[in-house]
Amino acid sequence: MSLSSISAEQLQRDGYLHIPVSPDLDLEAEILKLKQEKNAVILSHYYQESEIQDLADYVGDSLGLSQQAAKTKADIIVFAGVHFMAETAKILSPDKKVLLPDLKAGCSLADSCPPDLFAKFKAKYPDHVVVSYINCTAEIKTLTDICCTSTNAIHVINSIPPDKKIIFAPDINLGKYLIKQTGRDMVLWNGTCMVHEIFSHEKIVRLKERHPKAKFIAHPECEPHILEMADYIGSTSGLLKYTMTNPAREFIVATEAGILHQMELKSPEKTFIPAPPNNQCACNECPHMKRNTLEKLYTCMKYELPEIILPQWVIEQGRASIDRMLEISRRAGLVG
Ligand code: 13P
Ligand code: SF4
Repeated sequence: MSLSSISAEQLQRDGYLHIPVSPDLDLEAEILKLKQEKNAVILSHYYQESEIQDLADYVGDSLGLSQQAAKTKADIIVFAGVHFMAETAKILSPDKKVLLPDLKAGCSLADSCPPDLFAKFKAKYPDHVVVSYINCTAEIKTLTDICCTSTNAIHVINSIPPDKKIIFAPDINLGKYLIKQTGRDMVLWNGTCMVHEIFSHEKIVRLKERHPKAKFIAHPECEPHILEMADYIGSTSGLLKYTMTNPAREFIVATEAGILHQMELKSPEKTFIPAPPNNQCACNECPHMKRNTLEKLYTCMKYELPEIILPQWVIEQGRASIDRMLEISRRAGLVG
């Protein structure tokens, strides 16, 4: 199949280029070659497949990925992550080509907050400052005063004068956690992450009993009854740092299982157990993050498709909320 025979509609429908790749091809070597030839940078989130993480120029959390996207000198940003992350990269580097291996790599949390409904919700609280977790669409960012990630959320909330009222969207679990941590009264949008809301309290209790010396660590997108059990709560980079610096030898990890790859690389002598969800699986994987594969990464870099295209008004109006977040993080010395 030639590239010219692929219509924009087909790409939109499939989400990625359906071009057969020879099984004899050394995909890793080809991807590294394309990266050099095209002056591209590969940014990967911790939840990507380990083989993608191993090829990336940078692997990190949502804050780190935005910081990298804002400062890269590359001509092409290849985003190994989900749609809202690639959109953020495009907003921060509008003159660069931003590629996402699979356009359907979405996010249940971002989907839980449609812009038209959020605009009506926001209109009910005209005197409120809008803080949005970065896991939202670019259009929601245009309706937002300050973005945040799980690494800088407490700093962002604390930067808002105490007499100002706050709307927090879209993650209700992170919102409840932030209310507890900051003492601020916030109006919460009722959105959740499909990965972090299905951890099983009962199975985790049993796992803790079987591993009494293990530390239980959790991402703040988890439900409050899961967070209550945690020895440590943090963003993916926070959880990773905790496992590197804490003397414990065993950790039960309540977030997407992709993070275990970096934990095992950084502390090979330690044991990491994924926290079990409320279904038949042993660990939790994000089906959106996992839509990206090595084959799709290769075809996306070879043909420079699918590309993230945003309307100019979204780039212009979405930027301020991300810039404010980056500035607060810079002043607090936070690096993702
Ligand atoms: P962080 O890596 O910023 O903690 O975000 C987690 C997440 O759910 C990304 O989709
Ligand atoms: Fe969205 Fe949750 Fe997947 Fe992150 S892990 S991309 S928040 S669905």
